Amino acid sequence: MPQRKIVLASNNAGKVQEFNTLLTPLGFEVIPQGLLGIPSCEEPFPTFIENAIAKARHASKLSGLPALADDSGICVDALGGLPGVLSARFALSDQKRDPSDADNNALLIQKLLECAQRQAHFTCTLVFLESEVDPEPLISVGHWYGEILENPQGSSGFGYDPLFWVPELQKTAAQMSSEEKNQVSHRGQALRHLLTQLPKKIV
Ligand code: IMP
Repeated sequence: MPQRKIVLASNNAGKVQEFNTLLTPLGFEVIPQGLLGIPSCEEPFPTFIENAIAKARHASKLSGLPALADDSGICVDALGGLPGVLSARFALSDQKRDPSDADNNALLIQKLLECAQRQAHFTCTLVFLESEVDPEPLISVGHWYGEILENPQGSSGFGYDPLFWVPELQKTAAQMSSEEKNQVSHRGQALRHLLTQLPKKIV
């Protein structure tokens, strides 16, 4: 089957792997923007959808290819939805200019110390653009509900996975294989929905 090239507006290794697992069997070659020398775009907006459109447009403009962008994060009820769009840089400070997943997780544990309300959800907004000037982006949103643990468990995945407990499956996202996570995750849900719309868009 001929592979259709799509630039992915992310260099996050965890996301690249998740998108490849889902899109390669469907005939798409997912090229992370970094492989094309495209720098990351600013994410200055307060909503996932605005950031996702900005990222997809930037990647499509600089590559000349259709682009797929995801803006995602974890929203914690007891924190009024934070870290939200700030998830990747939650622990950012003058001392930590480039916080790691471990830094972000440590801060989340600290913020929820002795807090009984542990509900949270991951959210993923996907945007697909045929070109920089595409006036009709495909947009798809997925949510994944769970609870924040007091201590990390598991070593798969990335980001907040070791703290994200899924009651229905009695394990954290970091205790799932990538296939298992894709079946239920915010990103998997959003991508499956996007894929139902793609054939109408791509000719
Ligand atoms: P983005 O690259 O601006 O979309 O930031 C997404 C951030 O949200 C990541 O760096 C993670 O911290 C977090 N995140 C999003 N999706 C996931 C996931 O599936 N597992 C764990 N953390 C995630």
